[in-house]
Amino acid sequence: MEAGKYYIETYGCQMNEADSEIIAGLLERENYIATCNPEEANIILVNTCSVRHGADNRAISRLSQFKSLKKTNPDLLLGLVGCVAQRDRGKILKEKPFIDLVLGPDAYRQIPQLIMNKPHSFVDVNLSRREVYDGLMPFRNSVVNAWVSIMRGCDKFCSYCIVPYTRGRERSRSVKSIVEEVKIAVNDGYQEITLLGQNVNSYRYKEYRFPELLIQVAKIPGVKRIRFTSPHPEDVNARMLEVMRDFDNICKHIHLPLQSGSTKVLSAMNRSYTQKRYLDFVANIRNLLPTCGITTDIIVGFPGETAADFEETLRVMDEVIFDNAYMFKYSPRPNTAAVQLTDNVTEEEKAERLNRIIAKQKKHTTFRNRQTIGTVQSVLIDGSSKKNVDEKIGRTDSNKLVILKEGNADIGDLIDILITGAPGVSLFGKIQKS
Ligand code: SAH
Ligand code: SF4
Ligand code: F3S
Repeated sequence: MEAGKYYIETYGCQMNEADSEIIAGLLERENYIATCNPEEANIILVNTCSVRHGADNRAISRLSQFKSLKKTNPDLLLGLVGCVAQRDRGKILKEKPFIDLVLGPDAYRQIPQLIMNKPHSFVDVNLSRREVYDGLMPFRNSVVNAWVSIMRGCDKFCSYCIVPYTRGRERSRSVKSIVEEVKIAVNDGYQEITLLGQNVNSYRYKEYRFPELLIQVAKIPGVKRIRFTSPHPEDVNARMLEVMRDFDNICKHIHLPLQSGSTKVLSAMNRSYTQKRYLDFVANIRNLLPTCGITTDIIVGFPGETAADFEETLRVMDEVIFDNAYMFKYSPRPNTAAVQLTDNVTEEEKAERLNRIIAKQKKHTTFRNRQTIGTVQSVLIDGSSKKNVDEKIGRTDSNKLVILKEGNADIGDLIDILITGAPGVSLFGKIQKS
């Protein structure tokens, strides 16, 4: 019998997507049913991100919008979960007493039990050193890709970043439970497995490090594609690259967050590498995996970033020519080390620097995309184009989006596509007849 309907809205990174699927799994087990319509839900959870100020604000305003639904549905349970909940630690209840539940990222296991007691103003923001949600089956939203979280937390403490405070200490799941979850996902028809962690390649369980785990997952029969995100440059070692080279089903794409090209700024950010070492990491990747897509994250306007420092970032971008990049203005976050520093780059300078890197990246993305014209790429079809539903879309091994302009394919097909054009951010292609 149906216990009620739940609605989950998710912000932030893929770890949050995966966590929402774990929460959904817990609720489904209690016979709750998912709905896409918040108006018919008995439980609304907003899974939040706190990484930048903007993300933080969006989540809170969303919850306030849901408040009015309580008028027509007084039993509605409204929950703030995830990284904003963890950062805020329940202070929000003073201002917004209509919120029933505030749960940090390590407090989800108790959700089914909690909702039975119709909680009011319940707060649990304890961070755990052990919780990895082992043994819980996520209720997946996707059809082709399955998120599999392999480690949680972060011990790197980059000086700008709130994640170590919202997610707690690094801990890894057992190889056995990861392998079991992947086998079930494959059995359920998932073609692609994406291993997730805040520092996915810092994975460490007994004698297993990340490369050994990759081997175990790659050997599971039926796993067509494996991706992982986000790795830390420091842990991109030769062993990891060799394993990627040796297994065809491990996708040749590495997200390698640069953050800044200036060694001085990198040091102030508490990133452990210099500009030169970062460029060496890239050279190692190109050497062992010549077709590997490399994407990145860049922050502009970190405290003390001079015009000369910023030029160094542009220089590294020109040298690497990233396939794609996520680019941000520095946003001071509570509790972090950098919040003590004077945020001395003006808003205008931050905006100007951001615009410059966005423009540069656009050129580089176009350049990299055009390099694929005339090549045959293996593409996993995972949906239809938003502009034209008759056109299927998918991703290359190196994670570039392809729109299938000629030929038919079904979602889940892994097919060879000849790239015929690259007019914008995506590639155009047609099915390669064998
Ligand atoms: N663990 C991952 C991602 C962390 S958050 C990693 O290290 O790669 C994703 C990105 O958000 C970071 O790579 C960084 O570029 C950006 N970010 C984090 N904190 C930020 C802040 N305070 N201001 C602006 N961008 C930030
Ligand atoms: Fe944040 Fe740095 Fe950890 Fe990434 S590695 S989550 S940027 S502290
Ligand atoms: Fe955001 Fe938390 Fe992920 S702060 S980026 S949702 S770990």
